[in-house]
Amino acid sequence: MPKLDIAGVLIGANGKSAASGIPVNHLRVGLSAHSSLLSHLLRTLSNRVLPPPLPPPQILALLHLLTSLDTQNHPQNIGCGEREARLASSLLLSRGGLIHGIGRSGDVNEMQPKAAGSSVICCVVKIGVKDLLQNSLKMAFLKKSTVTVLPTCTGLSILLCLLTLKKSSPPTATKVLWCRIDQKSCIKSVQSCGLTLLTVPTKKVNDTVTTDLVALSSLLAFHGSSVLCCITTTSCFAPRVPDDIVSISKILKSKNTPHLINNAYGLQSNFINDMLVQSVNKGRVDYVVSSLDKNFMVPVGGAVVFGPDKGKIKDVGKMYPGRANGRVVEDLFVSLLEVGREGYEELWEYRRRLLPKFVKVFGEVAEANGERLLKTEGNDISFGMTLENFTNEECGDIGSMLFTRCLSGCRVVPTGVSKNIGGEEFRGFGSSTDDYGVCYLTAACAVGMKEREVNEFGKRLDSCLKEVVKKREKRERKKEKEKEKEKEKE
Ligand SMILES: Cc1ncc(COP(=O)(O)O)c(C=O)c1O
Repeated sequence: MPKLDIAGVLIGANGKSAASGIPVNHLRVGLSAHSSLLSHLLRTLSNRVLPPPLPPPQILALLHLLTSLDTQNHPQNIGCGEREARLASSLLLSRGGLIHGIGRSGDVNEMQPKAAGSSVICCVVKIGVKDLLQNSLKMAFLKKSTVTVLPTCTGLSILLCLLTLKKSSPPTATKVLWCRIDQKSCIKSVQSCGLTLLTVPTKKVNDTVTTDLVALSSLLAFHGSSVLCCITTTSCFAPRVPDDIVSISKILKSKNTPHLINNAYGLQSNFINDMLVQSVNKGRVDYVVSSLDKNFMVPVGGAVVFGPDKGKIKDVGKMYPGRANGRVVEDLFVSLLEVGREGYEELWEYRRRLLPKFVKVFGEVAEANGERLLKTEGNDISFGMTLENFTNEECGDIGSMLFTRCLSGCRVVPTGVSKNIGGEEFRGFGSSTDDYGVCYLTAACAVGMKEREVNEFGKRLDSCLKEVVKKREKRERKKEKEKEKEKEKE
C-alpha cells in the first residue's frame, strides 16, 4: 500500500497535480506550511522539548487536525458503546476539542484508544511541562523522573497524592503532619481522605510567621509510625514565609517519613525552586504539587505533580478514578505551543524584574498612611503592610472597599478571628498563627502582573486608606458637634 498523505493526494506519486488545473508549484508552496506544522509536532515528540512558539492559526490547525483523529469524527464510524463522544448541542459541536476526554478508567495518563489525537496532545503537554521544569527552572532531578498533569486543582491533587501514599503505607499510618498555613484547601484534602490532621504550629520571628522545626520534630517523634507523611507549603500569603523545606526534608529522610510539598504557585519564584532542588538533593521529597493556572496562566482546573521518583509520580495518575475532561490539557497544550519555553521564561523573568517596583510602591503607600511594610524576607510573591492605625471594623471596610474599587486579590486579615474547619479550630485564622498581634493587608506580585497595574494598585490602595481616615474624621467631627449641642442644652 503506498503511503497516503495530503501531499500524496494533491500532487500524486508521479509528481503531477492530481487536482486538475492547479499548478504543482502552487500546491507545493501551500503544502510546505502544512508539512512544517507536522514536523513541528514530530520534533516535539522526538526531541522531547517544547518547540519554538507557533502562531495562533497554526495551533488551531494542529488542534483541529489532532482532534479529527478521534473516532467520532470518522465518517464511517458507528459508535456502539455507551460513551461515544456524542454532543446534543450544536454549539458545543462547533467548539470541538477533546470530547472523548483523557485517560482510561484505570489511569488518567493512559492512552485513549478512541482518541489518538487526545493522546498526542497529552504527550505534548507532558513533554512541555517537564521541559519547563527541568530545563527552564533547573530541576535536574526530573531528568530520570516524570511529571503527571492532573485535571484537578491543587487541593484535589494533594488529596490524590495522599491516597497514593496511603495505598503503599501500613494501615496504621493515618496521621498527616501539616505545617500550619491558613488556606482551607489543604486541610480539606487531608480530612476528605479520612486522615487525621496533626497541625504543626508556626512561630513568629519578628514580622515573619515561619516553620517551627522543634515542634515538627517532637510531633514526629511522638506519633512515630502512625504518621503517613508531612505536608509543607512553599507559596503562601505574607507574613507566612515558605516552610524551611530543606531542613524538613532532611528530618523526614532521617525518619523515613514521606514528604508532600504544596507548591501551589511556587514555580514562579527562583528562591522556591532552588529550595525544591536542594530538598530533593539533601533530603526526602515524594511529591510536589503545583497549580497550572497560577504558574502557567491557564484557566483554573489543573495541577502538575512531580518529584524525583518516576514510579511514585506515575502512581498518582493511576489513583485517579475514571476518565477526565480534556479541557485542562487542551488549554495547556494551546498555551505551551503559543507561549513556548522562552515566552514562559520571559513571563517569570518579568515578574522578578517587577518585584522591586511592587515593593517600592506598596512601601510608599504604607508609609504615606503611617503604616509600614512587613519584613517577610523569604516570601517573594506575597507582601503585607500593617493596618495598625485602623480598627478591626475599619479593616473590614478596607477589604470590601478595595474590592468595589476593582482591586481584587488583596486580603485584609483582622486580629482575633477564629475559624472551625471540619472540626479543627484555628485561632487567628488568616495569619497562620494564633495571635499575629496586628491587623494587616496583603497583596501579591504574581506572574502576569504588569507595571501599570502595580502603579494603579498603589493609587487605589492609597485613596482607599485615605477615604477610610476621612470617614473616621467626619464621624468624629459629627460626634464632637453632638457633644457640644448636648452641653449647650445643659
Ligand atoms: C497555599 C495554597 N494551597 C492550596 C491552594 C488551593 O489551590 P486550588 O484552588 O488550585 O486547589 C491555594 C490557593 O490559593 C494556596 O494558596
